[in-house]
Parts: sequence; structure tokens; C-alpha cells
Amino acid sequence: MCGIVGYIGPRDATPIILNGLKRLEYRGYDSAGLAVLQDGHIQIRRDAGKLSRLQTLVDESPLQGHVGIGHTRWATHGEPSARNAHPHLGMTGEVVVVHNGIVENFLELRQELRDEGAVFNSDTDTEVIVHLIERYLSTTNDLSHAVRLALGHLKGAHGIVVLSTREADKIIAARIGNAGGVVIGYGQDEMFVASDLPAILEHTRKVVFLESRQMAVVTRQGVQVQTLDGEPVEFEIHNVPWDPVSAEKGEYRHFMAKEIHEQVRSLTDTIAGRVDFENGHGVRLPELNLTLERARQIKKIFITACGTAAHAGMVGKVLIERIARIPVEVDIASEFRYRDPIVDRDTVVLAISQSGETADTLAAMEEARRKGALLWSIVNAIGSQAMRLADGYISMQSGPEIGVASTKAYTAPLVDLYMLAILLGDLRGTLDAGSRRRLVADLRLIPDLAGRCLDREPEVEKVAYALKDVQHCLYLGRGINMPTAYEGALKLKEISYIHAEGYPAGEMKHGPIALVDREMPVVVIAPRDPWYDKMFSQIEQAKARGGLVVAVATDGDERIADIADYVLWLPETPWMLSPVTAVIPLQLLAYHIAALRGLDVDQPRNLAKSVTVE
Ligand code: AGP
Repeated sequence: MCGIVGYIGPRDATPIILNGLKRLEYRGYDSAGLAVLQDGHIQIRRDAGKLSRLQTLVDESPLQGHVGIGHTRWATHGEPSARNAHPHLGMTGEVVVVHNGIVENFLELRQELRDEGAVFNSDTDTEVIVHLIERYLSTTNDLSHAVRLALGHLKGAHGIVVLSTREADKIIAARIGNAGGVVIGYGQDEMFVASDLPAILEHTRKVVFLESRQMAVVTRQGVQVQTLDGEPVEFEIHNVPWDPVSAEKGEYRHFMAKEIHEQVRSLTDTIAGRVDFENGHGVRLPELNLTLERARQIKKIFITACGTAAHAGMVGKVLIERIARIPVEVDIASEFRYRDPIVDRDTVVLAISQSGETADTLAAMEEARRKGALLWSIVNAIGSQAMRLADGYISMQSGPEIGVASTKAYTAPLVDLYMLAILLGDLRGTLDAGSRRRLVADLRLIPDLAGRCLDREPEVEKVAYALKDVQHCLYLGRGINMPTAYEGALKLKEISYIHAEGYPAGEMKHGPIALVDREMPVVVIAPRDPWYDKMFSQIEQAKARGGLVVAVATDGDERIADIADYVLWLPETPWMLSPVTAVIPLQLLAYHIAALRGLDVDQPRNLAKSVTVE
């Protein structure tokens, strides 16, 4: 969704901002703009469309200045157009604003401001913010005071960055609630502001994350943080380990392809340092802050997440229930937050999120906090809100994921959940030493098994070629691989726009089997897991109705080879880890179908990488 970048320092702000925005393209946007302070005046370039359009505007009419802010917009109020693109300038020409989030009470505020004489030049909710700031600047000379007073009127969640000719030596940034983050980066005599780390990682790893209801006054020399009540805040400076180079496409055509191939490394990093293969075969997850006493107190776990992360949670349910014998419910975060779930102090609520900024997931966490649950998260983005809100967390170790379709940030949490189940089983005494040793030893195999799935890419490509023109597709799975069917279908639909449904295979006969014919390929996930025989009979049933079957099967499975139309082969994988390998050919299949259809694989239409609005 929307992205923000700001710069103040000795260098030319424009290329730094444009470059930062480029690194946020993956979040999804439909227009872009920037404002620079040039010779005491605010100069703006903005338009609908991609950043290349903004670059053209800047080339045609260059900007020069040492302070600036930029924005990529994902339309909520008003169509994507030049007048609705950010930054938004006030009537005096002295204040300019970029904004992530939704001003929930903007209709009332707009009316109030119009009654006071404000003239609106866009259809956006954001424009009320700049008029509010100007309202207060007419009675005070203190910019941060005026911004604080203005922000006091806003309902909803926001990330806001303000620039003003009145105090041209500073950028003001604020965060209210969970509309994405605000991060401030330190350079040499220069400072950076952004909604997300990748925008500024090439310049700095030394950063400060704003909490909700905090405001930062950023100058070339540093930053001061205060609450929205004006109280000074002591803050922590983080050193971020992410390598900016890993956020580049490298040899790959698309980020998604790169990220699928990075899974060998991300799975290695996921396990590294957390598993003691040599002595005792224990699992260490220190950031979870889990004590023996606490582990034994847990009566129930809710896993809450959205999209792909929720599918990972469904696998986690099977693992935790099997290994640690704790009842687990998986709740889509947008439902959990409004369902008044039965949660108490003996309940763990575990949120899973790649971005750590998904509005529904954060709201579900807040709901769990209100009800007194122990709050955990599995998160990829370091320093994100979902990491900071939790009592304990597991960091995914996937590195930046840029493609909108989540791939490596799906398989890493599967392994995290497997390790968590072992740790819980160990502490609660449901796992004997022999079983633990075996489960941990299996973990060591997983990066190599993932690599062997990737080696079969050319075969997957052939199947993709055969399926590239289909209109619909059904994915079936069962047991621990039922979520694999959901995830395979989600991957296909989100990037290829082919209608795809994931279904629990046992439900076929209760309806969906009516759809099966030659025009409706059925992807059957049938590795050698405890549900194998059931899945085999599913293939027979689909074939008996003339269906075209694509099976995901284990190497050497002659029965499936004989009956299926196409087979995506997997190396033999311990069944509790089979969702990790089984999903890889499905990621590749979706990727190649979308690429063959000539689609924008990394930024599919209507989708955003971080869904920071409800
Ligand atoms: C996955 O491919 C998606 N585009 C989407 O479902 C995503 O997983 C979901 O929006 C949750 O995001 P999060 O992990 O950042 O919370």
C-alpha cells in the first residue's frame, strides 16, 4: 500500500527520494509524487501511474533541494490522478503533507474546514490534514505544536510526514495506530524518513521506529521524539542486519522468482542457531520468552493471520496439536477482531505476518491483549509493529520479500511452527527424547529437500505451459497438506488472475465434484503423508469423471504416475515437513503461468504487499 520517503541533508533530495520510492514499489500503488523545498518554496511533481511517469516529470522539470518528501499512493478516497496523488499542499503554500492510512472522520472535518473557508483541491481524505495544520499555523509559529494540534482531530490509523517553509530545517513525521510504520534513519549529517525499511536501507542501518501516537522532529543532526501530547520520549536506536543487496532482483526476471529460489537460504537461516543438532537435539527460541511454567499453563492457542500467513497457521495447528497436544484454533484476523473470541490468561494468541504491519492482524493482536492473552508473533519485518506488540516473537529470517505473492515468507513460518511445536512438546512433556531427536534430525534435511524441489523447475515449466490458458483450477489437499491446496490456489489466482479454489479433498463429493471436467484441471496434493490413500482415491474419482489431474507426488510413486495427466515430483519428505516441499512446485507453477501470460508478476493488479487498511 502507500509508501513514504523523506530526506534532509547536504545531498540532492530528489534522486534519494525517487530511489527510495522505487524500493517501495512492491507494496503496490497507483500514483506517485514528491515535494522538495527549493529556494524557500515547496515544489511538487506528482501524477497517476508508475514511478517512471514521475521520473519523466522530474526530468522535464527538474527539482533541486536538500529537504524533500515523496509518496506512492494506493487510492482509497478519489481515483488515481494527479490531483489526488500526494504530496498535498495547503492553501498558503507553506505546508505539504504525505500520508498513509484513512482519515475516518474526513467528511466531518472537510465540512468543518470548508465552513472556515478552506478550498479543497483533491478528493482525498489526506487533504484535511494539511488544512488542519494551516489552521493552527495561523495562530502559532511552532510547526510541531501545530502538527500535534492538527493530528488530535484525526480518527483512524495514520503515518504522516510534513514539510513546511516555516521551519525549513526539519521534517516532521508521526504515527497514530497501525497504518504501517514510520522509521527514521541516521546518516552522516543527514537523516531519512520512511514508511518501510527497504526504502532507506541502502543509506543506513541505524534506525528508530516510531510507536503509535509518537511524533518525530527530524533535522540534519538527528531526531527528537515526543508523544502527541508533547511529552519527550526516550527511544531506542536499532541496528538493522538486512542487506540492501538482497532486496535487488539480481539475475532473476522477477522478485517472485528470486524469492522462490531463496528458500534454500531462508530455510537454512530459519534453522540456524535455533536447533542443537549435536547435543540433546533441543530447540531454542529465546525471543519467545517462554518459561517452563508458562508453557505448562497454556490451555489453548489461537493462531491469527491473513492470506498466506493464515495458511501457514493452518499447518501450525496440525503440528502443535500432534506434537504438543495443545488445542489450536486458526482464525482469520479480520474475523477474530470482531468475533469476541473466548480468550483468557491461559490462552496464547499467535499472530503470523510477513510485514508485521497488516491492519487486521494488528487489530486482532490488540483485541487479544485487551482480553489478557499471552501474545506471540512470527514476523519477517524486523522492528515491525507485530514484533513489538508481542510478549515474545519468532523472527522468520526470510529477508526482505518484495514480490506481492508471498513465497519464502510462507515456508519459513512453517519451519518456525514446527520448531515451536517441538519446544512446546518438550516443555510440556508430550514429546519423548527419542521422538524429539527424530523430529529435530528431520529439520536438518529441509533446506536440501527444498533445493531438490527447485531443481525440478524445468518440469514444472512444461506443466505451466500446458495450463497457461485455463480459466479455472481446483486444488485439493487433506490433513497437513490441506493448507497447501489453499496456498497453491491463492498463488495462482493472485498473480495469474485464473480463478482457483483450494478445497479440503474430503469435501469434493459434497459439491465441487460437479465442476470436474476436462476444462477444470484438478491439482491434487498427494505426497506420502498419512492421508496419501485418501488422496489417491480422490485422483481416481476425478479421473472417473473425465478430469484433468495434476498431481503433486513423491518421487517413485508409480501408481500416481500411471493415473495422473501431469505429475509435479517431490523428494521423499518427512510428512510433518511435507507442506514445505509440496508448496514449492505450486509456487513455481503459479509463477510460470503468470509469466507466460505476460502479467505483472511482482505487482499484480489491485493487490498491495502490506495491507495497512481494514
Ligand atoms: C500472499 O501471497 C498475499 N499477497 C497475502 O495473502 C498476504 O499473505 C496477507 O496480506 C498477509 O500479509 P502479512 O503476512 O504481511 O500479514
